Amino acid sequence: MGYPNVRMRRLRSARWVRDLVAESNLSSADLVLPVFVCEGTGVEDKIEKMPGVMRYSCDRLVELAKGARDAGIKMLALFPVIEDFQKDERGSLAIDPENILCKAIARLKREVPGIGLMADVALDPYTTHGHDGIVVCGDVDNDVTNSVLVEQAIVLASVGCDVVAPSDMMDGRVGAIRFALESGKFVNTIIAAYGAKYASSFYGPYRDAVKSGRECYLDKKTYQMDYRNGAEALSECMLDEMEGADMLIIKPGIVCLDIISKVSAASRLPVLAYQVSGEYAMLRNAGEMGLFDYRAAMLECLIAMKRAGARGIICYDALGLSEILAA
Ligand code: PBG
Repeated sequence: MGYPNVRMRRLRSARWVRDLVAESNLSSADLVLPVFVCEGTGVEDKIEKMPGVMRYSCDRLVELAKGARDAGIKMLALFPVIEDFQKDERGSLAIDPENILCKAIARLKREVPGIGLMADVALDPYTTHGHDGIVVCGDVDNDVTNSVLVEQAIVLASVGCDVVAPSDMMDGRVGAIRFALESGKFVNTIIAAYGAKYASSFYGPYRDAVKSGRECYLDKKTYQMDYRNGAEALSECMLDEMEGADMLIIKPGIVCLDIISKVSAASRLPVLAYQVSGEYAMLRNAGEMGLFDYRAAMLECLIAMKRAGARGIICYDALGLSEILAA
């Protein structure tokens, strides 16, 4: 068996046959749209480092969410923009049910039924130092942080958050959150654990978006994973699964295709890949420079994540893409 009986090009010879045999596909149902919510009314504030992405006040977010739902997007991932004067060392605002994130969730739940709402469980938008947890003696303290993360998860669930997403990488937080949710009768709250989250330069633009940016890049290497390691991601994800996670998130996306592939093969849980802010900004800026067709390059990256095994993808351009994708 071989050439000429086998000609690999036969199945590539026309668009219809390529479409017919394609292994991976992308539809708007695969996409999660991350959104940044800020105080005020009528606010649509451009994010300098993320062209095409805005910070929205609640009223504008409602309109955006309706558009996303009607375009076939199944979930929003909400991130709060907190002004410096509202932050403190312990990120106290994170557990205040009146904070902007909680207000947005409650309002979206009321006014835009039919779309899932996910929110990060981590303290970084709320802390003056920008770390994801409570700093004790110069490092983020695991167990002290966990107790606050549990409170944060409960507050989020109580205002109607469908999916809590611990993104802090503390050990044992998924189990602690699951136990608290069960005890509080939030039995249907989904935990989408950031199973493998690497300490990555690609988060740069996001930190600008939520105003947690520092002059020098904040080092989170004592809790986020070392990108030289792959096997460790499997341990992390297996632990999260055992502790009661319902889904696993892997981030960044394009530099973690191997991880997406290994985790999807090893775990029974659905895997979401997160195409993070730096990946988005890179593609967008390169497109604007005329280096390539932005949309085509974007689709190529996202489909690569699906080919690797991702069930869904968190993508800043989910809405733009849903216009060109079938629902
Ligand atoms: C914080 C958090 C980060 C992102 C999502 N949640 C940044 C960080 O860990 O420093 C990054 C998302 C992105 O870059 O798009 N827990």
